[in-house]
Amino acid sequence: MSYSKLTYGPITKKEAESLWETIYQSLHRHAQPGWNEHVGYEQFRAVRLKNKILGGMGIIDLGQWFGGNIVRSGAVTSVGVAPEGRGIGAASVLLKNSLAEMYELAIPISTLFPSSTRVYRSFGYERAGTKFTYETTVKEMKAPLNELEVIESNPSEREETYLLYNERAKLSNGNLDRGSVLWDLILETQGRKIFHYIVMDGEKAVGYVNFQQARSADHIRVRDMVALNSECAERLLRFFYDHRTVIDTISWNGPPNDPMRLLMEEQEVKIAYSRDWMLRIIDIKKAIESRGYPKDIQSTLTLNYEDPILPQNSGTWTIEVSEGKGTVSKSNLPGLTLGPRGLAPLYTSYLSAFDIKNMGLIEGSSDELARASLIFSGPKPWIGDQF
Ligand SMILES: CC(C)(COP(=O)(O)OP(=O)(O)OC[C@H]1O[C@@H](n2cnc3c(N)ncnc32)[C@H](O)[C@@H]1OP(=O)(O)O)[C@@H](O)C(=O)NCCC(=O)NCCS
Repeated sequence: MSYSKLTYGPITKKEAESLWETIYQSLHRHAQPGWNEHVGYEQFRAVRLKNKILGGMGIIDLGQWFGGNIVRSGAVTSVGVAPEGRGIGAASVLLKNSLAEMYELAIPISTLFPSSTRVYRSFGYERAGTKFTYETTVKEMKAPLNELEVIESNPSEREETYLLYNERAKLSNGNLDRGSVLWDLILETQGRKIFHYIVMDGEKAVGYVNFQQARSADHIRVRDMVALNSECAERLLRFFYDHRTVIDTISWNGPPNDPMRLLMEEQEVKIAYSRDWMLRIIDIKKAIESRGYPKDIQSTLTLNYEDPILPQNSGTWTIEVSEGKGTVSKSNLPGLTLGPRGLAPLYTSYLSAFDIKNMGLIEGSSDELARASLIFSGPKPWIGDQF
């Protein structure tokens, strides 16, 4: 069958149900029920052979925090091709065209959770940040009862929660600028009661937690949690410890250097789930200019960059970093040689340029590698959500 007969495009409302059925079947148990409907058909693209839809994917226009700035990011979700249409390049047509579409839409980067890393590497995505789920018993969360107050609040009073989340996201890398598509799920899912508490230090809110109690086990599943300082982390530990007569275990998604985990008396937290997400640089100039950089670094770096799928990005680019900003211009200076897969983990602060060299994805002198590592240094990137 000919690859060139495959076409890419949006779907109509009428086509949505059958495409989503194909995607739910493809993703098997890995799909969250109702997720595609929640995302909305306008966000979906299909690959067709003649008029028959073989598969599709969604692109959600979100943001991601890097270096204190929000960078617009195309979050790729629900990639699926019907089993009878596999192996003829349907996913390739979807991915290549979606990259071109995101470039046209001026989206600088794209992010996804892969079920196969290999599939996405073919299109310039690379592992670029972590998702961790921690699990422990609440009895291990013993902590002194401090002065901070934990107050139950209505999840629909969203403003305070948004502000606290953003304050932490600004100091992290990779966290999503969620948008209503993700906030609605966290704050207003139907079914089991969602408990939402704000932690107050006097008049000032310093954290929150949002969780459900599992019906099938004596387990607390934290859906979202922010502790802006150590007193708040300590207060939340104690809050969960105070559930110990009936609750056995607790799990939450957190950063690699999770303050709750690090504050606990003993090292009894296990990593119940660990998966890297992947990132693709869609527009090199926009991507580099829209993230933030460490304020005290003044430096210049040249990239000899080759992007076979989006050739508009190829060329020699010089980055000047000063006062937390990066400016990019075309040049003909010597520099590091890399492509989209080499740039992705550097861009997110996931790997140093030396680590990336060890993966065979970047070449250059030790001085240039050291400079690149410094410019893109920052907190280890993480995402707590799933999409
Ligand atoms: C993964 C999937 C989307 C691939 O679709 P497809 O149309 O058969 O893929 P293509 O023929 O376009 O191949 C695209 C690339 O992925 C590779 N690939 C395809 N299926 C793969 C698999 N199961 N494992 C690893 N690599 C695979 C191909 O070799 C090709 O890479 P190459 O260009 O370097 O050779 C499809 O098998 C599927 O829907 N699987 C179930 C759902 C799923 O895993 N979705 C991804 C969610 S993140």
